[in-house]
Amino acid sequence: MALKELIKSRYSVRSFTDEMVSVKKLKEVLNIANSAPSGGNIQPWKVYVVTGNTKDKLISKALYNFDNGIQEEVEYEIYPKYLDDEYKRRRSKCAADMYNALSIEKDDIESRLKQVRENFRFFGAPVGMIITIDKSFAQNGWGHVGMYLQNLCLASIDNGLGTCLQESWSIYPKTVKDVIKHSDNEVIWCGVALGYPNDNDPINQYRTSREDINKFVSFLK
Ligand SMILES: Cc1cc2nc3c(=O)[nH]c(=O)nc-3n(C[C@H](O)[C@H](O)[C@H](O)COP(=O)(O)O)c2cc1C
Repeated sequence: MALKELIKSRYSVRSFTDEMVSVKKLKEVLNIANSAPSGGNIQPWKVYVVTGNTKDKLISKALYNFDNGIQEEVEYEIYPKYLDDEYKRRRSKCAADMYNALSIEKDDIESRLKQVRENFRFFGAPVGMIITIDKSFAQNGWGHVGMYLQNLCLASIDNGLGTCLQESWSIYPKTVKDVIKHSDNEVIWCGVALGYPNDNDPINQYRTSREDINKFVSFLK
């Protein structure tokens, strides 16, 4: 696929078919993503691929937390405590677009929560991933992992797959650590749901919008 088409066709896939992804294909995608740049070529990403019993265990523990309102001490705030109105507006629109696609009303909290809960099933994807980074890295290193992740998303599309990045997994650091057993000096950057997109599900049929580049680009002469 041409690069422009590849980039433009990426979207967050939140429903998958049951088709398993072969290990060969998974490795191909992970290898392509591995060409990501990083300052000093430090390559600070760590990837835990979870399938089979490990995925089942992770899902069942996370859903137990979610269903019983169990909260864990988070290792970082996903969003700043204070969000400017502009960012709040975009976030609200993002949620509204998704719930509209699912015909879920604004005050239908039960249905909304049911959709949020899907995060902790990896949206039914055959493959889940947990991406971590060494705690010693600050913003700069986190950005490098972001480059790996974008590559992963694009390489997935090129292989007929789809992904959803999931910061939601960071709200259960203890539960995730209990299962994937990463070292004490790693922090969960995000999760990834990966598999073959279910094109028939309405949740995969809407697309998010973007601001015009004039909104954030300054040409300084
Ligand atoms: C680092 C990161 C974490 C995200 N975490 C979640 C998540 O936990 N759950 C979810 O449904 N979407 C998540 N998303 C998807 C965003 O909501 C999505 O990228 C955004 O709305 C733009 O839509 P698009 O990806 O379809 O273009 C995440 C995206 C990124 C980049």
